[in-house]
Amino acid sequence: MGTEKRTKTIAVANQKGGVGKTTTVVNLAAALSARKRAVLVVDLDPQAHATLGLGLEKQPGVSLYPVLLGEKQIADVIQPTKWNNLNVIPSEVDLAGAELEFGSREDRLEMIRNALAPVKESGVFDYIILDCPPSLGIVMTSSLVASDGVLIPIQAEFLAMDGLALITGSIDRIRQSVNPGLDLNGIVFTMVNGQARLTQDVMNEVRAHFGDKVYETAIPRNVRVSEAPSMGTPVVFLDPRSKGAESYKAFAWEFMAKNPTRFDAAAAASAPAPAPAAPETPAAVPEATPVTENPAQQNG
Ligand SMILES: Nc1ncnc2c1ncn2[C@@H]1O[C@H](COP(=O)(O)OP(=O)(O)OP(=O)(O)O)[C@@H](O)[C@H]1O
Ligand SMILES: [Mg+2]
Repeated sequence: MGTEKRTKTIAVANQKGGVGKTTTVVNLAAALSARKRAVLVVDLDPQAHATLGLGLEKQPGVSLYPVLLGEKQIADVIQPTKWNNLNVIPSEVDLAGAELEFGSREDRLEMIRNALAPVKESGVFDYIILDCPPSLGIVMTSSLVASDGVLIPIQAEFLAMDGLALITGSIDRIRQSVNPGLDLNGIVFTMVNGQARLTQDVMNEVRAHFGDKVYETAIPRNVRVSEAPSMGTPVVFLDPRSKGAESYKAFAWEFMAKNPTRFDAAAAASAPAPAPAAPETPAAVPEATPVTENPAQQNG
């Protein structure tokens, strides 16, 4: 007790643009929150698509940027969404300067880990999910340094394996240097087009190479998924019965099974009650914490 990691930090990353990173962040976070997991999304892309997709507006000064500059406490930039258990640190255009501005900082590799440390240590969230920008730059690298695992969304396309080699190479280098605890959390296929021959071939090749690191659930291309961002609502809430929503929920289920948190420990401890005597309060249950409040307020 006490030393176990309560909060899992997962970077959703792929240096390739438009592969479904943000869509995966938004819908995984939404599906987890619907399952009562406390989730914090950190939008690290100056395009702010995750922020908008979760129904928030961009606001100058409300992002990780001023925290990285030491101008704000992290508790001051965590925003609740309309949905229970689902919180976000928004992005803003200023983050676009981060690559240049922070490139020469001595702590550039650890800067995001350090910025998130108070939140992680507070143990308020089950999952912190980072939406990375599409490049192998300092923001993505620093995100990987801050994370326990990397989730890679990919499309089943020609050269998919080459793209995977690039990012898994980065993961290996970071694991061997600054973050030995970094795992390849998994690979998830996105925007899958039915039965196309190339799609099947690529999926088979990736599964053959990465084995059970590849999630069983593949996300199909589905028009409701692409419409949801303009409504500022994750598709799992907007149209829960759509194919896209159903598959993101199934994916979130698999994700939770692979990444148990204190929530699961508590459930396991209280589930079997065979003897007449009721079980004591499970030791693994932490004191209840209201998840919509800012976790690091004592620092503010
Ligand atoms: N399953 C899906 N079905 C249909 N459209 C999808 C699906 N997943 C994502 N899209 C659409 O594809 C586009 C790219 O998705 P998304 O923004 O999630 O990718 P990204 O990897 O975050 O992009 P970037 O690299 O620019 O950050 C978006 O318009 C999104 O709505
Ligand atoms: Mg994106």
